[in-house]
Amino acid sequence: MRIRLWLALLLTLVVSAQVPRGVVVSQERLASEAGAQVLREGGSAVDAAVATAFALAVVHPAAGNLGGGGFLLWRPTAGQPSFIDFRETAPAAAHPRMWLKEDGTYNEEKHHETLVSVGVPGTVAGLHEAWKREGRLPWARLLRPAIRLAREGFVLTENQAASLSGHLAEFQRHAPTLAQFSRKGEPLRAGDRLVQRALAQTLIRLAKHWTDFYQGETARLIVRDMKANGGWIHAADLRAYRPVVREVLRGTYRGVEVLAAPPPSSGGQVLIQTLNVLEGYDLKAAGAGSPLAIHLTAEALRRAYADRAQFLGDPAFNPEIPLARLLSKAYAAELRATIQLDRASVSAPDRFTWPKDRPDTTHLSVVDRKGNAVSLTYTLEDSYGLKRIVPGAGFLLNNELGDFNAAPGLTDRQGLIGTTPNLAQPGKRPLSSMCPVILVKDGAVLLVSGSPGGRTIPATVLNTVLGVVDFGLDAQGVVAAPRIHHQWLPDQIQVEADLSDATKAALKAMGHVLKEVKKQGCAQVILVRNGQAEGAADTRRWADSGAAVE
Ligand code: DON
Repeated sequence: MRIRLWLALLLTLVVSAQVPRGVVVSQERLASEAGAQVLREGGSAVDAAVATAFALAVVHPAAGNLGGGGFLLWRPTAGQPSFIDFRETAPAAAHPRMWLKEDGTYNEEKHHETLVSVGVPGTVAGLHEAWKREGRLPWARLLRPAIRLAREGFVLTENQAASLSGHLAEFQRHAPTLAQFSRKGEPLRAGDRLVQRALAQTLIRLAKHWTDFYQGETARLIVRDMKANGGWIHAADLRAYRPVVREVLRGTYRGVEVLAAPPPSSGGQVLIQTLNVLEGYDLKAAGAGSPLAIHLTAEALRRAYADRAQFLGDPAFNPEIPLARLLSKAYAAELRATIQLDRASVSAPDRFTWPKDRPDTTHLSVVDRKGNAVSLTYTLEDSYGLKRIVPGAGFLLNNELGDFNAAPGLTDRQGLIGTTPNLAQPGKRPLSSMCPVILVKDGAVLLVSGSPGGRTIPATVLNTVLGVVDFGLDAQGVVAAPRIHHQWLPDQIQVEADLSDATKAALKAMGHVLKEVKKQGCAQVILVRNGQAEGAADTRRWADSGAAVE
């Protein structure tokens, strides 16, 4: 007895120097719990992230996925941070004019709503790559919760049932999808059990051999669907898919180190460039949510998003992206010199305009008790991606190639952009806004953050960073604080509706156009303060978001 007490005391002392208990935060409590259980069994933060991501593919089919792609940022307590890019790629048949009809006009449906818009999925290869490098538990162990949730089913919450029934009309266009996500065509209700047998079988195959997705039965099922229905992905495209391990994009903000996503994401560029500009102002003195703080944030974002559209794309096809210059403090000073403190500037529309934003994506954050951190964002692009299950395989396909620009030079006021860095090409990754981030202070993790929200993602993540560094908020406060966004064009500040009338009036008086939205993003945040990891789940657009503690 005495020995046990002594051991417990020793353990407390040891772990309190690090993070007493690991935390997992994601958009579904069941998935966070799957990750936390892995931590309890001695798994690493990466193990927990992989288990959570596979579980999300079952319990959060709107964005959790096997058939999509994403980014994983990993920062170990000892050693170097790394970044795994498992973004989807364009198949070999892709070309810059692939979204045009024969008469040369733009075919929006083909770009976003057909099997041609599906990128070669990267999720399974990416999660496996992360596990291969940093995993401690057996691979099959990490898929176990997902297999159980798919095979035995789980009871739908109000939120899940509302999401599924809200998309019923779209599921009706494809019989296997309707069969999986309805009760013989009738909407599923809260309290119903959702069992996904074909998905369970796929997960069981992947638990044995992850390569099944790219070269085995799962690959065969994908290619069969593509062949039968006019898709462009062939067996060779699946076989050729590789995740890429990239240098983490690094910046600093008021003495805090920022680790963020490099291209083919624009997330890190927008975030770090904006922070560099804001570093020249005293936001704390201006006050959180004050007209001046919002004005300066919007002006900094405006400029970073303009550069995003001009320069960013898959680095394999754009060797000339001037990242060093864009992320330099000197360039930030040049940009600051163009900002007036009391006047909105104007986004010149002739530079280019923007493609539309489409939901949906999801983020998860993990910190284990040693302080190792994972920040992972992955996506199917739209909610439920293409809304097409691969027949016999039980998972949804992405429509990620919609993130490519529409056609060379095709820029219009409706929101198309024709700049070259992000035109479709064989094997190319479409430009992303996903922005998993980790902040490091005095050598230890301070914040793990990320969000869905398409083009608004870097701005949402920026809001969480400012909440911590400038405004000293706790994790709940960071997640709850009203958010803003500006993306060059349309030339407007997007604000969450709970800004005061006085603040809105002050911004309008500076010349800003305001667009009010009820909700921006869904950030899943872990803040480490005084050696304690605080998880805060964002329920503003997804009520089931939840944290689980080891
Ligand atoms: O990679 C991207 O930037 C987009 N495909 C993400 C889409 C998204 O976040 C929508 N979420 N609400």
